[in-house]
Amino acid sequence: MEFPVRTGNPAKVESACIVIPVFKEEALLPTASRLDDASERLLAQLLERGDFDARLGNVQLIPFAPGLSSERLLLVGLGKREACQETAFRKALDAAFTALAGLPVDEAAVAFTEVPLADRDTAWKARMVAEAAQRALYRFDEFKSEKAPASRLASVTLLVNDSDDAAAAREGARIGDAVGRGINAARTLGNLPGNVCTPSYLAERAEALGEASGGALQVEVLDEEALEALGAHSLLSVGRGSEQPSRLIVMTYQGAEDADEAPHVLVGKGITFDTGGISLKPGEAMDEMKFDMCGAASVFGTVEAVLGIRPKVNLVAIVAAAENMPDGRATRPGDIIRTLKGLSVEVLNTDAEGRLVLCDALTYAERFTPASVVDIATLTGACIIALGHHATGLLANDDDLALDLLDAGEAAWDRAWHLPLWDEYQEQLDSNFADLANIGGRPAGTITAACFLARFADSFPWAHLDIAGTAWSSGKQKGASGRPVGLLTQYLLDREADAVVETEAE
Ligand code: BES
Ligand code: MN
Ligand code: ZN
Repeated sequence: MEFPVRTGNPAKVESACIVIPVFKEEALLPTASRLDDASERLLAQLLERGDFDARLGNVQLIPFAPGLSSERLLLVGLGKREACQETAFRKALDAAFTALAGLPVDEAAVAFTEVPLADRDTAWKARMVAEAAQRALYRFDEFKSEKAPASRLASVTLLVNDSDDAAAAREGARIGDAVGRGINAARTLGNLPGNVCTPSYLAERAEALGEASGGALQVEVLDEEALEALGAHSLLSVGRGSEQPSRLIVMTYQGAEDADEAPHVLVGKGITFDTGGISLKPGEAMDEMKFDMCGAASVFGTVEAVLGIRPKVNLVAIVAAAENMPDGRATRPGDIIRTLKGLSVEVLNTDAEGRLVLCDALTYAERFTPASVVDIATLTGACIIALGHHATGLLANDDDLALDLLDAGEAAWDRAWHLPLWDEYQEQLDSNFADLANIGGRPAGTITAACFLARFADSFPWAHLDIAGTAWSSGKQKGASGRPVGLLTQYLLDREADAVVETEAE
């Protein structure tokens, strides 16, 4: 998708559809006002007569507008000005692009960067426009015999008021486009069923990404034999009951000028289906456990965004992939396994499997002497109880890293919330028979899961993102969200910006 930027008289813009945001009970924004002047007060009259209600997310297509060079006009309600913040702005964008995706147009022009938002500049608004455009075009109909007609939209012109804003809009759109494509890639991996998206399928996707990258992405896949030789028995214990072999996938991107600069490591939970294993889950909504690899999907999506943007950072992306099934060979409750780090774990519940694959992946990350390690996992149902479906859970052994991730979430509008990782919680993981147990009882399930991981992350700054509540939607809108690709990509872009500040200070 292209996002050209244009200044000048909007009435003269020859587009198939010009998209104009409108506040409720408020003066028209500059672009709308100029179109109004050129069109015999068409917009003002529509509003005065009550023919267009500018409530948030309401859209109205005007197929012909006198005095305008565009073929169509699409009005988009922003709601009340005082209530218009980031969430409302994104809702209006989603409504606009959903409407555009349903029109027989391959190009449109939008005037969203002039919507006033406290503390958000043109680059941010342009970024949100491009991201929303990509998300609205997303379809997942590979398995449908009758496919909904695909949108033809291929170019969205950003109308900006002064030429000073043009460069910012261009750069914002470049980032948003790449993030949007990364989000969509993550959604597809998440939406694929467990019988297609297996650990080896994920490994194939990684190899394909590496091949398509023209050398920018190095990919290594450890199979079960290699994992056995390494001593990653904890990861292997999870896939024991499955016909599908486990994999550890390692993708390396070197963008920093100094190839030896310490990399940032992302680690994704890639349970391609979680039945619970011998501690079998109840049947209700078990299909949604195909989404238990959404942490891995977000790592893939972030790699795609990074390959699109090419920031000057070093990145190692690790995916711990396994399928959790019950079987004669499956791990039993009470089994004791030895992790890659050497700690023994009593598996009291085979449904607490995410931490068992992640702990070995965290130990594996040590070899890269990382600047930071962030794992992303649909780890605990308790996180949904604590935070619902809006905030990702964030726990960390380093407060600076936690703040950097919170900031990145705010910037990308893909927000997380910090939970405590106090030592007091650690004793819930005491085991009578091994170094630690893999569950910590009912209280603070999200925190004790992170406490388990923390035991394997003592040699680097580390944070854990629990995306159980944010990685997908249930019900009629069932589908993967692609979160937190926005947060993670922003986090890496911010590290690039940090490095620039440091070099300038030298
Ligand atoms: N993948 C699940 C967590 C999950 C459940 C995410 C439902 C989203 C929706 C994870 O492997 C799991 O089963 N966790 C258990 C841990 C418990 C056994 C300590 C849970 O949350 O119930
Ligand atoms: Mn589980
Ligand atoms: Zn799981």
